[in-house]
Amino acid sequence: MQFIDLAAQQKRLRKQIEGNIQKVLDHGQYIMGPEIRQLEENLARFSGVRHAVACASGTDALLLALMAHGVGPGDGILTTPFTFIATGEVIQLLGAVPVFVDIDEKTFNIDPGQLETALGALRAKDSNLYPLPGNSITNSLTPKGIIAVDLFGLPADYEKINAIASDNGLFVIEDAAQSFGAEHNGQRACSLAQVGCTSFFPAKPLGCYGDAGMCFTDDKALAETLRSIRIHGKGGHKYACGMRNIWRLSRVWPFRWCRPAPNPSGPSIPFWPAAMNTGRRYSKP
Ligand SMILES: Cc1ncc(COP(=O)(O)O)c(C=O)c1O
Repeated sequence: MQFIDLAAQQKRLRKQIEGNIQKVLDHGQYIMGPEIRQLEENLARFSGVRHAVACASGTDALLLALMAHGVGPGDGILTTPFTFIATGEVIQLLGAVPVFVDIDEKTFNIDPGQLETALGALRAKDSNLYPLPGNSITNSLTPKGIIAVDLFGLPADYEKINAIASDNGLFVIEDAAQSFGAEHNGQRACSLAQVGCTSFFPAKPLGCYGDAGMCFTDDKALAETLRSIRIHGKGGHKYACGMRNIWRLSRVWPFRWCRPAPNPSGPSIPFWPAAMNTGRRYSKP
């Protein structure tokens, strides 16, 4: 028996899928066409949140959420080591540092008790209180946010995680790549933290035939920021920047096409400094 039988699923849906592909070929809006807005509306309603922002993958959804919170070098993001690599990878891609907190042995999700201890240790810069990244890294870190992961479909303990975050001025991202459609105390996955991020990789609970992802939030301003970053920092007009710091625009591009963050000792890639300088010039009030 196949673990994930996409062929059987396709057999059942094939006619409908082909009809819808035909519609897209007919109207020709291949990127961000009307089907995407419809999908965002449907899945926001299903998940019980106000805003949904579709993007290219679950990894990109996490990256957008971190960028929308202005995450960068010097920030410590507390997360679980027991997850798919994308969760930690996106933190590092932005020049921030993942601070790993151990899991609860019953749920395999991040342990809120240890989260609190790790946060205290990070604030005190004391790895005797909890294992932290090396001293030279930890000394320069400020805790900024938390990414909790709903592993194997089971949501993490968001009552406790959100409470710890709000007591400490941190944001919470729910990595719901494995839990779309799950419920926790009557609330759907993707609605359990400030931003929920999911993946539509074919093997996921709601899979597509390719790569795709989505961010969910009730926060209108955050949703607008996510939409802006999705289109290279776009504002109301194609050439206007919707964000106060246009440099974020330059951070999308190097991630996609060059390297993730400026590294003075790394190989020189001319695109990055050019984009940075352009961003700086235009971000003056
Ligand atoms: C927990 C978790 N986060 C993030 C991702 C990344 O999603 P994607 O493969 O769509 O980039 C996955 C995918 O396997 C995942 O399992």
